[in-house]
Amino acid sequence: MNNVIKVIDLVKKYGDVIAVDGISFSVRKGEIFSLLGPNGAGKTTTIEIIEGIRDATSGEVRIFGMKPGDVKVREKMGVLPQEFSSIERLTVMETICYFASMYDEHKDCDELLKMLGLYEKRNELYKNLSGGMKRRTGIAIAIVNNPEIIFLDEPTTGLDPAARKSLWDIIEYMKEEKKTVILTTHYMEEAEKLADRIAIMNDGKIIAEGTPDELIDKYGGKKKIIIDAKEKIVREISDEKEIVEIINKLKVEGIEYKFIEIKRPSMDDVFINLTGRKINEN
Ligand SMILES: Nc1ncnc2c1ncn2[C@@H]1O[C@H](COP(=O)(O)OP(=O)(O)O)[C@@H](O)[C@H]1O
Ligand SMILES: [Mg+2]
Repeated sequence: MNNVIKVIDLVKKYGDVIAVDGISFSVRKGEIFSLLGPNGAGKTTTIEIIEGIRDATSGEVRIFGMKPGDVKVREKMGVLPQEFSSIERLTVMETICYFASMYDEHKDCDELLKMLGLYEKRNELYKNLSGGMKRRTGIAIAIVNNPEIIFLDEPTTGLDPAARKSLWDIIEYMKEEKKTVILTTHYMEEAEKLADRIAIMNDGKIIAEGTPDELIDKYGGKKKIIIDAKEKIVREISDEKEIVEIINKLKVEGIEYKFIEIKRPSMDDVFINLTGRKINEN
């Protein structure tokens, strides 16, 4: 069995609000699977149901073939919750030792802190850490039990670009370690860079699913050629041959230019084409 998570027709209602509106997907062993969507799309609700924290209204969820919340499942999973926070007045080392003590088997705390670049900060109080270091502490807690599957709910929200980049490296390292990672994010470039497969969520529904390349090919629209001449020239291209034709034409007409750029559509274009709006507009 290659699917470690299977979700079928999942629905979650909060009173009149339908937070999750009949979604189905599977997550394969060893992949980074991203739920990508704007605030309020239903991402956190979905993963918290899989984690066994909230109950579904209807539908079926299996994780390692078991029901969410099963003790045997809990041993195999690690969670970084959205807007993670920890005990302010414990040091990083005390925090990790505390969480490690909850498990019969856990990673070596020194090794874990070294791996996450936290070792130098081990005697700092949690409250005095930078945003990036706090998030890393959250990841240390999430993986202290050496889980097979790791849930990361908006792991880089609110971080500066450097801290975000270093968290991306940590997530890529998890993949090298053959972990399965469920990553929720509203950052297009994050999903595009890290995820093997993406499910785009909007208003409680999955509106598209595939690898980043598949989604961009299918929904991204055409490539563009941008020519930095006296006036900037931008043309859509459907065929590689057109590039040669355009360059030839520039030559024939004696148009001088500084550079030519071929721009592939991005996940931003995918989301706009699917929903008619940008992901971070509210
Ligand atoms: N505990 C709750 N009670 C009532 N409504 C909730 C609760 N949690 C989430 N919601 C609502 O469900 C919808 C989906 O929220 P959420 O799962 O947090 O989405 P996302 O993580 O994609 O931002 C939103 O409309 C949100 O306001
Ligand atoms: Mg959320």
